[in-house]
Amino acid sequence: MMEKTQWHPVALSSDVQQGPVGVRLLDEDLVLWRDAEGVANAFVDRCPHRGARLSLGRVNEGNLECPYHGWQFADSGQCVKVPAVPSFTPPPQHCVKSFGVQEACGLIWVQLQAADVPLPAFEAEGDARLRKVSCGPYDVAASAPRIIENFLDMSHFGFVHEGWLGSRDATEMSPYNVENTAFGVKATNCKAVQPLSNLHSTKPAQVHYTYEVTGPYTALLTKIPEEGTTKDGWREAIGLFICPITPESSRVWFRLAVADFESSDEQLQAFQHTIFTQDQPVLESQLPKPLPLDPRAELHSSADRMSAAYRRYLKASGVTFGVC
Ligand code: FES
Ligand code: CO
Repeated sequence: MMEKTQWHPVALSSDVQQGPVGVRLLDEDLVLWRDAEGVANAFVDRCPHRGARLSLGRVNEGNLECPYHGWQFADSGQCVKVPAVPSFTPPPQHCVKSFGVQEACGLIWVQLQAADVPLPAFEAEGDARLRKVSCGPYDVAASAPRIIENFLDMSHFGFVHEGWLGSRDATEMSPYNVENTAFGVKATNCKAVQPLSNLHSTKPAQVHYTYEVTGPYTALLTKIPEEGTTKDGWREAIGLFICPITPESSRVWFRLAVADFESSDEQLQAFQHTIFTQDQPVLESQLPKPLPLDPRAELHSSADRMSAAYRRYLKASGVTFGVC
């Protein structure tokens, strides 16, 4: 499964203090925890002794301790202690499977199968002129690809986000460009007239978007409103980072990178929350839940060129989880 070689977000870094915390990724139960140096680890959430859930245990002196018989595992996954037999030195095969972990964009990322694959890029994260705020998690009863496709779709603004990102008086979409990139697809020159395009909008604005798919279940947008319609110098980038839990359910985070150091985190999160909770019921209603990759399975218009490109990219990449 190619998805196993990709990096996926599984939790906010701040939600895993020491752990252990149980999460699910690609139908696999994992336990996250931090060692004595604060480095995050991800193991299979099943003790190799008698199969108990390690996420019910605790972190003890920098090792993960099973809740059942107290076996302890070091960050490599190696068992280092069997309390019932203190003199026993566990051999190398006494270990629990561990996975690759990285932290970026306020999230813990896991790779289930080792491969030379980079984390999805989010350039705005490194831009000191932009303030970063995380939103989520949102638990959504929809497949990750349906959620990505919704994020790339501008022709729903006048309906789902009426009065906010769109209006029924301006539903026509001007042509935009779509291109393939090294890691996905990109749409540029996307335009929308938005009544209330961000927290600081003072009047309706023509907004310029770019969208980029950076992996099977990650995407980003940049959004620049025309001058004089919002706070001076306002611009924003939003990363959409999804943990594919099952083929029909997902955990979603947004990472905001905005030219705004005055608003509170809560104000920035509230705007994003309003928009996403408008999307969520529609997303959860879509059937089939997996995203159909056969072009004949659903109908299309020329406004859907980005979503069609995303579907072609998933198919060409050999993605199987959350698609049909
Ligand atoms: Fe984990 Fe026995 S089941 S120590
Ligand atoms: Co929407």
